[in-house]
Amino acid sequence: MHIVSDIKTLRETRREWQTEKQAIAFVPTMGNLHEGHLRLVKEAKKHSSKVVVSIFVNPLQFGPDEDLDAYPRTMQQDKASLEALGVDLLFMPKVSDIYSRGLEQQTFVEVPGLSYMICGASRPGHFRGVATIVCKLFNMVQPNMAFFGEKDFQQLQVIKAMVTDLSMNLTIHGVPTERESDGLAMSSRNNFLNAEQRLIAPTLYTLISNMATEIKTGRRDFSVMIAENRDNLAALGFKTDYIDIRSASSLLQPSHEDKELVILGAGFLGKTRIIDNIQVEI
Ligand code: PAF
Repeated sequence: MHIVSDIKTLRETRREWQTEKQAIAFVPTMGNLHEGHLRLVKEAKKHSSKVVVSIFVNPLQFGPDEDLDAYPRTMQQDKASLEALGVDLLFMPKVSDIYSRGLEQQTFVEVPGLSYMICGASRPGHFRGVATIVCKLFNMVQPNMAFFGEKDFQQLQVIKAMVTDLSMNLTIHGVPTERESDGLAMSSRNNFLNAEQRLIAPTLYTLISNMATEIKTGRRDFSVMIAENRDNLAALGFKTDYIDIRSASSLLQPSHEDKELVILGAGFLGKTRIIDNIQVEI
């Protein structure tokens, strides 16, 4: 596995692969890799001859009160996992190379609408930071395809919209959420949970799964369901951020015509924000 931190070497390698007509799949990450990330890499390998993974903890997508400094960094372990999976190139740029003119001067990519709702309403600027770094990484890696987890369902929709709006020449693949045996969606932030919070955490998935069952068996009073389950989430011990039922394609309130829905939930256990979602076809 090539380990590259400068953009020039990345581009040289990319150019060599291009002359060999190799398809390139890309998995952007912020490191602290778990089975969810490794599944993205495995999917990427199925689709292409060369796989590039990036590890970059992107300061632009963290709010001032969020966990940028505390974000877990496990570089040696991450390298070993990626090497074992046969990744071709690991790109680990420095903040000063990525944002060379400084964060204040940085040009942004912003996907309006989609970026301001649901998670975006609680985390102003977050999806602008995500879209900007993903756009920059796409420009550097120039992949034919890129892989993102469905756990961050809204992020996946924001990136798909950006690719369409900016006519980017690559395919975006969403990969189903990897879960612990008790249903908790894998996330680097799960490391922050204490023993008591870890027991509560999977109940968010139980709650949205129950909502999915109710919808599949005909329940349609969505606003009542949302209100009830906000309270249920609080009763389980979360500080509720949101519970919502949206159209899976637009993330808008579902209309009668929408057949593919997504139930999204987020809540805090202490300072740790747990998010999850489940797609439902009706
Ligand atoms: O999902 C993540 O880990 C990050 O938001 C991403 C896509 C790597 C951008 O920093």
